[in-house]
Amino acid sequence: MEDLAAEKHAAYILEVEKKKDSIESVLMEHLRINGAYWGLTTLDILGKLEAIDQETIILWVMSCQHKSGGFGGNVGHDPHILYTLSAIQILALFDKIETLDIDKVSNYVANLQQEDGSFSGDIWGEIDTRFSYVAICSLALLRQLDKINAEKAVKYIISCKNHDGGFGCTPGAESHSGQIFCCVGALAITGSLHYVDKDLLGWWLCERQVKNGGLNGRPEKLPDVCYSWWVLSSLIMIDRVHWIDKEKLVKFILDCQDKENGGISDRPDDAVDVFHTYFGVTGLSLLEYPGLKAIDPAYALPVDVVNRIFLSNLDPL
Ligand code: FPP
Ligand code: ZN
Repeated sequence: MEDLAAEKHAAYILEVEKKKDSIESVLMEHLRINGAYWGLTTLDILGKLEAIDQETIILWVMSCQHKSGGFGGNVGHDPHILYTLSAIQILALFDKIETLDIDKVSNYVANLQQEDGSFSGDIWGEIDTRFSYVAICSLALLRQLDKINAEKAVKYIISCKNHDGGFGCTPGAESHSGQIFCCVGALAITGSLHYVDKDLLGWWLCERQVKNGGLNGRPEKLPDVCYSWWVLSSLIMIDRVHWIDKEKLVKFILDCQDKENGGISDRPDDAVDVFHTYFGVTGLSLLEYPGLKAIDPAYALPVDVVNRIFLSNLDPL
């Protein structure tokens, strides 16, 4: 089996960060803060976060904050809950959460909760279980979960559960591995996993593994490295990861590497990008690939970062 080209992947991420006029950078302009989270988390899992000038990154992250308390995808962009979580995660990676005005950021997030317990992503009102996860994860990292009605938030997520055991983006919407990660993650963080039918959902998730070892996001779809994260993290949270063939999945991810120039693609021989490099490396971390830091499946941050946040202060969340 091929090896993980860890040095090359770290160099690739550091290079993308420098090439501000590359096509990848231009396409990602509006969601740069998400890209920064993917790149920096990957570097940390690879043990290479010191290669980054953290002061510059923190100053830039803070300059993406809007007066409402939420963060935009880049300087001068409108705030959205998705970018706000990335900002919190980046600060957590550098152990700098205290840079934030915690009250202001957590009020922004909490105010997006709706009467039925769901969350909108911003002032425009789109509702999606992705936003429920993002709100719950953000507030938990800020230790401000008591600012929302968590019981209602959980009730809404459960209303998005389907007969196949999976979850969709709104009640009645088709099961999708990305949404399953969000719903299971939010339930894990709030201590509500007992609402999940673990055998039924575990079966649906392990059916995502196709012949070449890769995982797809829904039935009849092509395998894609990003589902290594969405599916594996969910299987780990419900304690059913032993139901897939781990060795075949490791091989699929390693086959998606550009071993010469670094980076990981969605499937073998496609073009690499930072997004799939993050999901390939974090997927391998969940599979306990040697030499990688462990990642927490619910918070999508290295385990040592999560422990630093929750063990440093033993007050209840
Ligand atoms: C699939 O996307 C993934 C999802 C729907 C889940 C997205 C979750 C978040 C944005 C929450 C934050 C996540 C982390 C890891 C902190 P896709 O558009 O690739 O789906 P497709 O394959 O069906 O096109
Ligand atoms: Zn993908």
